[in-house]
Amino acid sequence: MILLLLLFLSLPHALSLNQEGLYLLKAKEGLDDPFGALSSWKARDELPCNWKGIVCDSLNRINSVNLSSTGVAGPFPSFLCRLPFLSSIDLSNNSIDSSVAVDFGACQHIKSLNLSDNLLVGSIPASLSRISDLRELVLSGNNFSGEIPASFGEFRRLERLCLAGNLLDGTIPSFLGNISSLKVLELAYNLFRPSQLSPELGNLRNLEVLWISNSNLFGEIPASFGQLTLLTNLDLSSNQLNGSIPSSLSGLSRIVQIELYSNSLSGELPAGMSNWTRLLRLDASMNKLEGPIPEELCGLQLESLSLYQNRFEGFLPESIAGSKNLYELRLFDNRLRGRLPSELGKNSRLNTLDVSSNHFFGEIPANLCANGALEELLMIKNSFSGNIPASLEKCQTLRRVRLSYNQLSGEVPPEIWGLPHVYLLDLSVNSLSGHISNSISGAHNLSSLSISSNQFSGSLPSEIGSLRNLGEFSASQNKITGKIPQTFVHLSKLSSLILSNNELSGEVPAGIESLKQLNELRLANNKLSGNIPDGIGSLPVLNYLDLSANSLSGEIPFSLQNLKLNLLNLSYNRLSGDIPPLYAKKYFRDSFVGNPGLCGEIDGLCPGNGGTVNLEYSWILPSIFTLAGIVLIVGVVLFCWKYKNFKKNKKGMVISKWRSFHKLGFSEVDIVDCLNEDNVIGSGSAGKVYKVVFANGEAVAVKKLWGGSKKDTDSEKDGLENDRVDKDGFEIEVETLGKIRHKNIVRLWCCCNTGYCKLLVYEYMPNGSLGDMLHSSKGGLLDWPTRYKIALDAAEGLSYLHHDCVPPIVHRDVKSNNILLDGEFGARVADFGVAKVFQGVGKGEESMSVIVGSRGYIAPEYAYTLRVNEKSDIYSFGVVILELVTGRLPVDPEFGEKDLVKWVSASLDQKGGEHVIDPRLDCSFNEEIVRVLNVGLLCTNALPINRPPMRRVVKMLQEAGARNKPKTTAKKDGKLSPYYHEDASNHV
Ligand SMILES: *[C@@H]1O[C@H](CO)[C@@H](O)[C@H](O)[C@H]1NC(C)=O
Ligand SMILES: *[C@@H]1O[C@H](CO)[C@@H](O)[C@H](O)[C@H]1NC(C)=O
Repeated sequence: MILLLLLFLSLPHALSLNQEGLYLLKAKEGLDDPFGALSSWKARDELPCNWKGIVCDSLNRINSVNLSSTGVAGPFPSFLCRLPFLSSIDLSNNSIDSSVAVDFGACQHIKSLNLSDNLLVGSIPASLSRISDLRELVLSGNNFSGEIPASFGEFRRLERLCLAGNLLDGTIPSFLGNISSLKVLELAYNLFRPSQLSPELGNLRNLEVLWISNSNLFGEIPASFGQLTLLTNLDLSSNQLNGSIPSSLSGLSRIVQIELYSNSLSGELPAGMSNWTRLLRLDASMNKLEGPIPEELCGLQLESLSLYQNRFEGFLPESIAGSKNLYELRLFDNRLRGRLPSELGKNSRLNTLDVSSNHFFGEIPANLCANGALEELLMIKNSFSGNIPASLEKCQTLRRVRLSYNQLSGEVPPEIWGLPHVYLLDLSVNSLSGHISNSISGAHNLSSLSISSNQFSGSLPSEIGSLRNLGEFSASQNKITGKIPQTFVHLSKLSSLILSNNELSGEVPAGIESLKQLNELRLANNKLSGNIPDGIGSLPVLNYLDLSANSLSGEIPFSLQNLKLNLLNLSYNRLSGDIPPLYAKKYFRDSFVGNPGLCGEIDGLCPGNGGTVNLEYSWILPSIFTLAGIVLIVGVVLFCWKYKNFKKNKKGMVISKWRSFHKLGFSEVDIVDCLNEDNVIGSGSAGKVYKVVFANGEAVAVKKLWGGSKKDTDSEKDGLENDRVDKDGFEIEVETLGKIRHKNIVRLWCCCNTGYCKLLVYEYMPNGSLGDMLHSSKGGLLDWPTRYKIALDAAEGLSYLHHDCVPPIVHRDVKSNNILLDGEFGARVADFGVAKVFQGVGKGEESMSVIVGSRGYIAPEYAYTLRVNEKSDIYSFGVVILELVTGRLPVDPEFGEKDLVKWVSASLDQKGGEHVIDPRLDCSFNEEIVRVLNVGLLCTNALPINRPPMRRVVKMLQEAGARNKPKTTAKKDGKLSPYYHEDASNHV
């Protein structure tokens, strides 16, 4: 008995893992499992049925393996195919790669194979079609390239074929129309060659979901698609489809969602839409559709209707107000006219209404928020008139309200000012009157309040000062009276305060220096009196200051010299005393005119003030100046001549002049000792660049500029590059760089000037220049997020030069070789050898006598005007963006006559966006890349005036990257990607 018991106890050890379990262990052996996801797969078990990811049937036979999102890596574990009863494999979202070729023909029993979101490359294995029972094949989100295998036409039972988000670069084959069992076909976001939709796809009578957006399709939507009677979801968005929407589509009687946005579809919406009885969402925005919005649509149970940026005209059918489910209605940028249906919003939980930029008139319907769901109300640029309906006072859900550019009048219902969730309230350019209600204290989320160009009167309620999120407040062009409330100094997020052209009186609030974010302060044309508070000078980011046409008196605070102003206007006040020395220059004249008390301060400040000098002797003063000038010039010339001789004699002496800009831990001798050929890291026409490492391990880069005779020895080779970095390059660079500090501008530690050569010592940038990195074999290392960051960094650096330096600095040689990369690939703008400091805030433009800049980067207008200004830098920077996006050189023999800018625009016209993008980049970023590309195109616009200022470029780049990274396969059941709409409605 005891013996038996013993035998029994030892039984589990005697039994061993079954064959299926052994196959699994074999599979495990071939996989990397960095997170220990397979730790429960142990040889001492008898059955594998409790192992993670394993599901067995009632007879303990393995039915499915699901290791989705477990982080396993390595080749496809083909041992799984030996499991005789396995029907489903899900390895999605891991790091399965193609390091071992797999014959999928061996997986005969599999019905479902999901390998989406892995690292598979190369062609899609043709052997997959030999899995005769396969129902589901999901390969989305890999890096498969080439064609869809011809053998795929042989699938007989396949219901789901998902290949979206790969690098497939063939065309969409017509044989897919043979897989009549297909229910779901997803091919979106590939690099397909331009092709037309084959009418054969209309044979897929079982199809429910068809998703082929972003696939380079052109031509018409085949009429045969009308046969897809089971289709619920049709998404052909973001292609170049043209022609009209075939009327046969009215046969899609089960359709729930239609996405046709961003194509070139024309003509009217087809008749027969009343057949779409289940339709919830229709988005045909951004096409060239025209005609009226059909009455038929209104009978549907639509939740969302987006038809913006088309050419629809006529009236909005009254019956649309009857739609019970209408949640979102976006019709902006069309040519619609007439009144909005008065019942709109009454019958449904309307959330978003955007009818901006149409020709609507009449009153704003009173029922828009009748069901308490309205969040966005956008009606900009129409001709709406009458009062803002009082019913909106109760609309607590409102978040974004933009009613600007209409003819609204009367008072704003008081509670609207204080709606708690509104963050944007834009009522500007109307005829509204009355005063701002003090109920505004309830608007806790208000971040932008714009009521400019109305008839508002009364005083500003001090409650505005309690709106802690307020960033922008503009109320210019009204009739506002009273004082600027002292409470305004508590608005710690305020960046822009624009109250010009009102009747404000009293003083500029004391304590204004606590507005640390204030960038723009415009109080012109009021009746302000008293002194300019000294505190204004300590506003760290103030760039625009306009206090003109008031009655301000007293002295101008010297602290204003601390500001980096793009605009300074104190004209037409009663200021007196000294002008701060920095501004006491002729080119600031316009900033101070009209202040009788300042007349003596700048020449010509008061043109009429000759009257104070006795006319008879008025010739004396100029003569004295002339004489003094002559004496001075002679003196200077003499001195220079002597000094030059003195220097000549001392030629060859070691270091004559050493200037240090920052506290340094090394001496000049350390540096000079290290300048040997082994340390050269770069060489150009201007001189050589050395890397010098000190005993303490710290490194610097030293640029050695040739002395006079040696210059330009290799300018032949470089073409225009660094052309004429003449003897002034050194001084310019020292002058320019020594003064400024910014995280995206390369730091100049110090310089020295020997008779023979000149040295500039910079911080060392371990990753060299962007140009070297991008255009060498290392270019592949720069992935898109890094490139995006580089673009943004460089833009911030340039924006600093253009907008934050007084006077502004134009770099004049922006190019990828002058953008250096630090250890983390942070980018800094370098090489100021030809930079130009602009003498004059208003002028900002100067003629140059010699060509500067580098081939491929020079703005077209430069060729005929020889004028450079900030706009030329912006052009060059645009070229750098194009380099980052395309990975190509600014000039390349392959482009023929063209340079990069022309090549990109020609390729875009002919082939579309995907074709210019650097193929080394992960295409899942394509949407963001295209947004950045668009910024680059704006910057390289042929007309300087169309190029956005750098500050705007920075903002646009931030916006381009801020939105969620589009994950190619993230589009759940084809629902419209949210960032997309965000984009489109942000246009206003
Ligand atoms: C695998 O598991 C994930 C979650 O763990 C689940 O979302 C997915 O549907 C499963 N796959 C299959 C084929 O059941
Ligand atoms: C509506 O659909 C049916 C088939 O479901 C079709 O016979 C009819 O022609 C369609 N109506 C229109 C106006 O196209």
